[in-house]
Amino acid sequence: MKFFIDTANVDDIRKANDMGVICGVTTNPSLIAKEGRDFNEVIKEITTIVDGPISGEVKATIVDAEGMIKEGREIAAIHPNMVVKIPMTVEGLKAVKVLSAEGIKTNVTLIFTANQALLAARAGASYVSPFLGRLDDISTTGINLIEDIVTIFDNYGLDTEIIAASVRNPIHVTDCALAGAHIATVPYKVIEQMTKHPLTDQGIAKFQADYKAVFGE
Ligand code: E4P
Repeated sequence: MKFFIDTANVDDIRKANDMGVICGVTTNPSLIAKEGRDFNEVIKEITTIVDGPISGEVKATIVDAEGMIKEGREIAAIHPNMVVKIPMTVEGLKAVKVLSAEGIKTNVTLIFTANQALLAARAGASYVSPFLGRLDDISTTGINLIEDIVTIFDNYGLDTEIIAASVRNPIHVTDCALAGAHIATVPYKVIEQMTKHPLTDQGIAKFQADYKAVFGE
């Protein structure tokens, strides 16, 4: 399973990129709004940090296919690594069909059922983003959705990649890897949590203490 980072915060993107663990970035209108920066400005900066797929979402206020196609073309023109993120609606699928025929990569987002993922793949999406954590939030086991999509895509040899999204903790990450998601898009906080184990910290402290006891500083 590959990792993307799920943020529009360039400091967090730099930190994760320096660790060598991420190969892409996902953003959404809420994440862009959180940074309070112009969409094009922040996306352009991200393209200078990470050399991999960068998802930029069409504006939340645009709901018709025509509008999404127009904005999708503009997002794709920012940089060759751009992926146009489109919400899972009838209009969104129409936009995916047109954009993918033009060779523009798309990521269909806000996927909450296996049927939505299958439709998005058939419309030509390069990626689908099932939201694990938001299902868990409403007492529905999110990982079941990832497992179902993996099985269905395998059944039919679909090459649309599954980005496990709305990942909230390290257990989600392990579960997604076991389920066979191609990618998990993860906030920086979760990447940091994944590096940690108390026995690692204790081990480092013990090595330091033993070494210093014999050789000094
Ligand atoms: C995915 O592409 C979304 O940006 C993101 O994972 C949503 O996560 P949230 O449910 O924690 O907001």
